[in-house]
Amino acid sequence: MTRFAILASGSGSNAEALMKAAEAGIIPAEAALVVTDKPNAGVCERAARYGVPVAAFQPKTYETKAAFEEAVVHELKQRDVDWLFLAGYMRIAGEVLLTAYPGRMVNIHPSLLPAFPGKDAIGQAVAHGVKVSGATVHFVDAGIDTGPIIAQTPVPIDEGDTLTDVTARIQQAEHELYPKTAAQLIQEERKRVGV
Ligand code: GRF
Repeated sequence: MTRFAILASGSGSNAEALMKAAEAGIIPAEAALVVTDKPNAGVCERAARYGVPVAAFQPKTYETKAAFEEAVVHELKQRDVDWLFLAGYMRIAGEVLLTAYPGRMVNIHPSLLPAFPGKDAIGQAVAHGVKVSGATVHFVDAGIDTGPIIAQTPVPIDEGDTLTDVTARIQQAEHELYPKTAAQLIQEERKRVGV
């Protein structure tokens, strides 16, 4: 059975969408671990509800970013994790993580990349008055939301929409797009290797 981990720093609504889809068999893989850099993040409670173990790492207790990521990778390898899905993980992946999971580290971002990378993507889109934004799933590289795009969903922004309206609509799109795309990636890989 393919195993994936979720890296998250926040409320974990996308993490939950992935755990739920795995539990339902929509993603043909097991949610093996949630890794967080914020031990009090909402994602921990959500993981507990799905019986998924949580490993919390405090980056500031490590001397270097590489040492922090080595500890994370050690835990991931111990648990035979094949894929990493970043879901609101508020750190830039460093060399150690990138080298450990080449082509198997994926992120979701709440805009139609390459528009509005980085923080507050939804706020930026609303402030610019764009008529369409959306959600993007992409492979992770060393940049901020710059890796190759895998899938996107457009989300309309209507006259008079508040930030709250747009956020809710984009989040809903994310919760559909991420599990669907994760399932496709894992299925495609299983076909490739003949499982
Ligand atoms: C999502 O909008 C995701 O696209 C971005 O961070 C947010 C995390 O939200 N990378 P949640 O913690 O999954 O609710």
